[in-house]
Amino acid sequence: MTNSETKATLSFSDGSPALEMPIYKGSIGPDVIDIRKLYGSTGMFTYDPGFMSTAACNSSITYIDGDKGELLYRGYPIEQLAVNGGDFLETCYLLLNGELPNADQKKEFVATVTNHTMVHEQMQFFFRGFRRDAHPMSVLVGTVGALASFYHDSLDINDPHHREVSAIRLIAKMPTLVAMAYKYSIGQPFVYPRNDLSYSANFMHMMFSTPCEPYKTNEVLVRALDRILILHADHEQNASTSTVRLAGSSGANPFACIAAGIACLWGPAHGGANEAALSMLEEIGSVDNIPEFIAQVKDKNSGVKLMGFGHRVYKNYDPRAKLMRETCYEVLQELGLQDDPLFKLAMALEKIALEDEYFVSRKLYPNVDFYSGIVQRALGIPTALFTGIFALARTVGWIAQWKEMISDPEQKIGRPRQLFVGSAKRDVPAIDKR
Ligand code: CMC
Repeated sequence: MTNSETKATLSFSDGSPALEMPIYKGSIGPDVIDIRKLYGSTGMFTYDPGFMSTAACNSSITYIDGDKGELLYRGYPIEQLAVNGGDFLETCYLLLNGELPNADQKKEFVATVTNHTMVHEQMQFFFRGFRRDAHPMSVLVGTVGALASFYHDSLDINDPHHREVSAIRLIAKMPTLVAMAYKYSIGQPFVYPRNDLSYSANFMHMMFSTPCEPYKTNEVLVRALDRILILHADHEQNASTSTVRLAGSSGANPFACIAAGIACLWGPAHGGANEAALSMLEEIGSVDNIPEFIAQVKDKNSGVKLMGFGHRVYKNYDPRAKLMRETCYEVLQELGLQDDPLFKLAMALEKIALEDEYFVSRKLYPNVDFYSGIVQRALGIPTALFTGIFALARTVGWIAQWKEMISDPEQKIGRPRQLFVGSAKRDVPAIDKR
């Protein structure tokens, strides 16, 4: 962050003194105006619901240019990372450490993560407290938060070693917990992790093997899951990441902060969109019903949205969607599902929406979740678990952002203010006068 020679001046039409504010430059992307002295100097706050124009922190992890449709992890384009960047654990190393690992660093990192894949045996009892039909996201909010009660040896957020160990534990244990949530929901025994498998292959093993039958991994499907994880690993200061940072700003432990992130991700406007997009396709049912559905979407009173379309930041296209679309074709081809009716319906809907004036004029394009649901369904992952997979992928981004925040000397407890529009001060009337 460097000081710009340009300054911003805020002037008032009522003749109050103007305020000069510094402007800072990042390495790329929009400059920011430092408004920290605004309240002290003028007694006014800024008003920005939804943080449409607010940079809440400085960060060197992920950069998005929404107009260009560009997503960079530590400077590397997502297209290159997804195709030539190695597996998901390399992306994790990159997000956490700022550079891609060399062969020795990769080996050591994989060994460290795999050393932490098992969860405390007692975690099983937490699962048993849930109803079998509980939504996996509620199970994950509970069990990830509960990790704090098992790992007292890594909760000191002021100790860099503790922070590191917690980060590794979260990345290593998330697949185990997500797979346990699934196994519990279908009444099958929990499957222990296998450390001789890759991160994604091990997850599929914990999901789909049983004590009676091993799961035969298929390279195309493992690669597809790995790509889902890479594409969802981080996404700048989105709602769940901001939630993690806000929770962490009070000094809360990392397990509690990630549980808060999971809770936020669950919403259908955020990570819940992949589940909602697939449910929407199932509800539409057939290509013939698309025009009626599109008419409902355009009717503001219907409350119906085209799930998997639109994005707060990407207003031209979502670069992750392009890659996920490719993966979608690859997986369906591998499984001989090219004629899958749901996939055909999705492609027809995509075509109609991309040509429709309503969507074109609002710059609404398919986002990553429009396709990731179709891929996950083909992999055999149940719809209710889609957002859990997103949480598993995003854990590394959340924890990298949390670590960056804790080491930032400018970090303060997050405390937004408000424009108060309620009743001014008044006296409580006597009881017989109410
Ligand atoms: N279907 C129909 N209309 C839409 C949609 C949609 N999916 N998204 C936005 N619009 C309309 C909206 O009604 C508004 O129209 P108007 O200007 O006539 O009032 C206009 O487009 C602008 O919408 P907005 O709500 O101001 O846009 P936003 O930037 O605040 O919202 C969004 C972004 C992602 C919340 C929204 O597009 C949405 O709800 N999409 C569906 C859910 C979804 O797929 N979310 C996943 C995002 S990608 C995964 C992730 O990163 O979490």
